[in-house]
Amino acid sequence: MQFKYKALNDKEYAQATDEQLFHNRRRFLKLGTGALVSTLSLDALLAETNYDKVLPLDFKPFTQEENQKINQETLTLTSIEDTTSYNNFYEFGYGKSDPKKRGHLLKTKPWYISIEGEVEKPFTIELTDLLSQVNLVERIYRFRCVEAWSMVIPWIGFEFNELIALAKPTAKAKYVRLSTLYDPKQMPMQASSFQAIAFPYQEGLTMQEAKIPLTLLAVGMYKKELLAQNGAPIRLVVPWKYGYKNIKSINKIEFVQEQFMPTWEAENPKEYGFYGNVDPEVSHPRWSQAYERVIGQRGRKKTLYLNGYQKDVAHLYAGLDRSKLY
Ligand code: MTE
Repeated sequence: MQFKYKALNDKEYAQATDEQLFHNRRRFLKLGTGALVSTLSLDALLAETNYDKVLPLDFKPFTQEENQKINQETLTLTSIEDTTSYNNFYEFGYGKSDPKKRGHLLKTKPWYISIEGEVEKPFTIELTDLLSQVNLVERIYRFRCVEAWSMVIPWIGFEFNELIALAKPTAKAKYVRLSTLYDPKQMPMQASSFQAIAFPYQEGLTMQEAKIPLTLLAVGMYKKELLAQNGAPIRLVVPWKYGYKNIKSINKIEFVQEQFMPTWEAENPKEYGFYGNVDPEVSHPRWSQAYERVIGQRGRKKTLYLNGYQKDVAHLYAGLDRSKLY
């Protein structure tokens, strides 16, 4: 693919994603935040995750222009080390470091995704085949977890709209339901006698939300394919919603007529809603959502309504009671 765009914020981007981060094992790199990232600990990370074997992707780089339109400010990227070692992926364990430790159990090639429900004709497609039919783009987005921490991640993915065009949903489709792979041999917590949540993990969006150009199906980060702990080989990215909506390792996409209960809402409907919209004014029953801890930086920052993406999505929720539509 040929793209004429100039990548966003070259200097900062290079600081966080420079190839030296992968290859120059002896140096200490200074990130924009002033934090020192030890390449020695990166060594350990790379050894465990086989990041060297992860393939670079061909994509259209995120531009200054797009960044201004979407984020309205230049964001400081979270380090690869933090993004790939501090994860929520309950299929591999409930601790933040478990997904990195156990991710090697997941086999992502080949990877089949079934498209079902209210579509002209259901079908199953292998990911490589799917990727040959869509446009990969880079998008740097804020990422806000319901646990009140945040990161900034340079995703590579394609707009959900492109999947919709291939799936051809019928007029009856009002919601989309996504499911994570269910295979206890590859995802050990699915076989555990203690399960904090029901598997397979499921999440969903309204059709209007799925069609918002910000909504991505991501297959990479930091210019390369996703690692298992981040939801390889394909995950949802909806930047104005809490992290739990961003379902990982998707192998089923169903178009449905009725709203349904996704995993976290079914688990605890008082704490986690279907919408999961980032909202500093609607507290979680056990903590405030007004501030967030920025991973890799000192201190906290104020959380923005819809994570700063109001301009693109606030119209979807106009006139609705935010305290009920959480
Ligand atoms: N998807 C699946 N299948 N299983 C999970 O446990 N955790 C969610 C979401 N997607 C989760 C999931 C939560 S709570 C968050 S915050 C994000 O993934 C974390 O994404 P990250 O680890 O890439 O930061």
